[in-house]
Amino acid sequence: MKILVINGPNLNMLGIREPDIYGSNTYSALENYIKSCASELGHEVTLFQSNHEGAIIDTIQQAYKAYDGIVINPAGYTHTSVAILDALKAVGIPTVEVHLSDISIREDFRKHSYVSLVAKKTICGLGFEGYKKALELF
Ligand code: DQA
Repeated sequence: MKILVINGPNLNMLGIREPDIYGSNTYSALENYIKSCASELGHEVTLFQSNHEGAIIDTIQQAYKAYDGIVINPAGYTHTSVAILDALKAVGIPTVEVHLSDISIREDFRKHSYVSLVAKKTICGLGFEGYKKALELF
């Protein structure tokens, strides 16, 4: 299947940002991990990371009729972005939401996810492995 993997703001800072929460592996290690999982599973994967909400929305819109699935870690936009939720609803592509950390046991403001309202499944707290589990669902 053709899968688009989207990572939101600050995930490019993996390895530097809050390693006690997000681990010491870098974003480029995450990219390599996702590519190798995808190739094992026989998926064709495209990776996209942006710190900009509009760029994420543009990428979701461009995925219309071009991808079979979306794996998204909206990062901070998880908890704020009605616009990303609307874009995912608009394109109607089956979506799995991933978070490296377990957002259900962190600060209260992280407990609500707009993207969960459209995601077929939300995978939290498994670190990099969450992306593998998401790819396996397709
Ligand atoms: C995150 C959790 C979010 O609350 C946070 O803003 C992130 C990363 C995660 O992967 O655990 O940037 O999505």
